Amino acid sequence: MQVIVRPTREAACNLAAAIIEDQIRERPDSVLGLATGRTMEELYAKLADKHQRNGLDFSLVRTYNLDEYIGIPPEHPGSYRYYMNKNLFEKINIDLRNTHLPLGMSRDVAKECRDYETSIRRNGGIDLQLLGIGATGHIGFNEPLSALKSRTREKPLTPITIQQNRDLFPNPDEMPRCAITMGVGTILEAKRILLLATGAEKADILAKAVEGPITAMISATAIQLHERCSVIIDTAAATKLKELEYYDWIYQNESEWAPYHRRGL
Ligand code: F6R
Repeated sequence: MQVIVRPTREAACNLAAAIIEDQIRERPDSVLGLATGRTMEELYAKLADKHQRNGLDFSLVRTYNLDEYIGIPPEHPGSYRYYMNKNLFEKINIDLRNTHLPLGMSRDVAKECRDYETSIRRNGGIDLQLLGIGATGHIGFNEPLSALKSRTREKPLTPITIQQNRDLFPNPDEMPRCAITMGVGTILEAKRILLLATGAEKADILAKAVEGPITAMISATAIQLHERCSVIIDTAAATKLKELEYYDWIYQNESEWAPYHRRGL
């Protein structure tokens, strides 16, 4: 794992956007695993900007989102399909047929989950999986006690997560209690993981995820098992980490990051 601390939220988003840009330029038909939430809004704005100003081409890119609420249609303003269309897909030249989210209105949720996994596999697996981290330490909607080998499935949301996200609904009481989410095991199969977290409210849980013991009580600790995982955070989210100097030394000295330094990142 690499932990990269950037001075501001904007700088953290710039680095994450540059990594995704490089992935797409290197492999134009990349399969991206995407996340939603407040943290990703700025990142998606930067990717849209790279398309509009620098011609970053999404025409062959394929995407799979981590999760979707159960029981609301895609056109509902609280749905993750709506979020993705609004924040990213409508602003870039992606073919909507290549964008995938679980169907929260599916009448057979178990089948929907199996089909989602099959579809990811048929597309060759996820090249780069973007993750945020929730207040409970969830990645996707893998709430505490999610098996570290779990697959895409239905998951009830914790009261803490409902509290975290309810204001994103036009009518907060309409927030669903359950979601379909990729499992921790599904996420760990991605070839590369990029976790982005910003803001002081993430500091405690982030320190547990990065420096604490691996436990099913905090799904994000599972990223420690991944062989190619970059955690990109701002200074506000980094305050509870113990080994900051070491992380910075790695960022400054590992050759992988030299091209990013040259771009002022
Ligand atoms: C949503 C998702 C969640 C969020 C997490 C952080 O698709 O995967 O794990 O990344 O809840 O959300 P924000 O960014 O709103 O703090």
